[in-house]
Amino acid sequence: MPFTVRSTVRKMAAYVSGENAVDMIQLGFNESAFPPSPKAIEAARRACHDTRRYNDENYSALKRALADHHGLDEDRIVCGAGSMDIMRDLAACCLEPGRTLVTGRLSYAFPAVLARAAGAEARLVEEPSFTHDVDAFTDAVTGNCSILYIASPNNPTGTSVALATLRRLAEALPDHVLLMIDAAYADYVTTPPTPSADVLVDEGYNAAVLHTFSKAHGLAGLRTGWAYAGRHVVEAVAKVRLPGVLSVPATAAAIASLADTGHTTQVVQQTCALRERMTARLVELGLDVVPGDGNFLMAGLPQSFAMDAETLYQRVKARGILLRRLANFGLERHLRITIGPPDDMAALDRVLTEVLADA
Ligand SMILES: Cc1ncc(COP(=O)(O)O)c(C=O)c1O
Repeated sequence: MPFTVRSTVRKMAAYVSGENAVDMIQLGFNESAFPPSPKAIEAARRACHDTRRYNDENYSALKRALADHHGLDEDRIVCGAGSMDIMRDLAACCLEPGRTLVTGRLSYAFPAVLARAAGAEARLVEEPSFTHDVDAFTDAVTGNCSILYIASPNNPTGTSVALATLRRLAEALPDHVLLMIDAAYADYVTTPPTPSADVLVDEGYNAAVLHTFSKAHGLAGLRTGWAYAGRHVVEAVAKVRLPGVLSVPATAAAIASLADTGHTTQVVQQTCALRERMTARLVELGLDVVPGDGNFLMAGLPQSFAMDAETLYQRVKARGILLRRLANFGLERHLRITIGPPDDMAALDRVLTEVLADA
């Protein structure tokens, strides 16, 4: 088939996603355990009457709602169809052959994929203790580095970086490096609640902090995200973004969800309680659990178990539950488990009890 693919795209591997199946319990995508706010559903439903029109390209109403809710400067907000969409726009602005994106070997893998697609290098910092070593990240930065990506809490490890440490990182970076902080799971950091990294942008650091409505707001299927960044970043992204990429129902739902703080607080509290219960249960079953702050857990099989993670994954799958394999990170004895609804957690408990009894 005659089809000219850029050499960088030809050589790169595709982003590895999890398996999906409609008739199985899905605990592999870090989606919310709970439905969105009924007010968000109603707002999206009503907004469907307006879908004859393109959305306001500037997403002014959503930006205003975000600025009011979080006490931010509206002109520093960028909206996109999920934070992955904004990552892609930032990559389009900053990455090209000869440039580098620094990220962790155990960091969320999508930014590295974007770097390779752009013909840039993805430089992976080793993370032997499952935590971001901020000094090692700084050491990996060279003159041709355009973006340093760090997720807090990180996927798949779940570990987070304190705001003071992120500030130290921002302080250490040369001016030509954009610090991309991915706060997709920050809503789940409740003990203690951590101030948002957005403050680093207001303090004048060259940072872009990415947020999503896909997790605690339960709106993954509507693909809504936003970032807080310096005005120079906002202006650059405006040149490359797809106009009107955020749908009319998506922005309506996001605005309504933002206002329904009671709902989001309850979702976060219940998710964290389920996470603590599942952590305790996994430890009882003999697994090593990395203490994490997201709506998921990373669990490892100690060497005392005869099976590896792939075998465990397949046995759990055979009993109707999908987890997330981490072999693409070089983790052959770990799996990632999304915190799902209480019934799904109970089912996972039963299945793991049965499967691990044979191990
Ligand atoms: C760290 C991280 N960032 C971003 C995303 C995707 O967010 P969005 O749905 O807003 O594109 C995910 C999805 O799982 C994630 O784990």
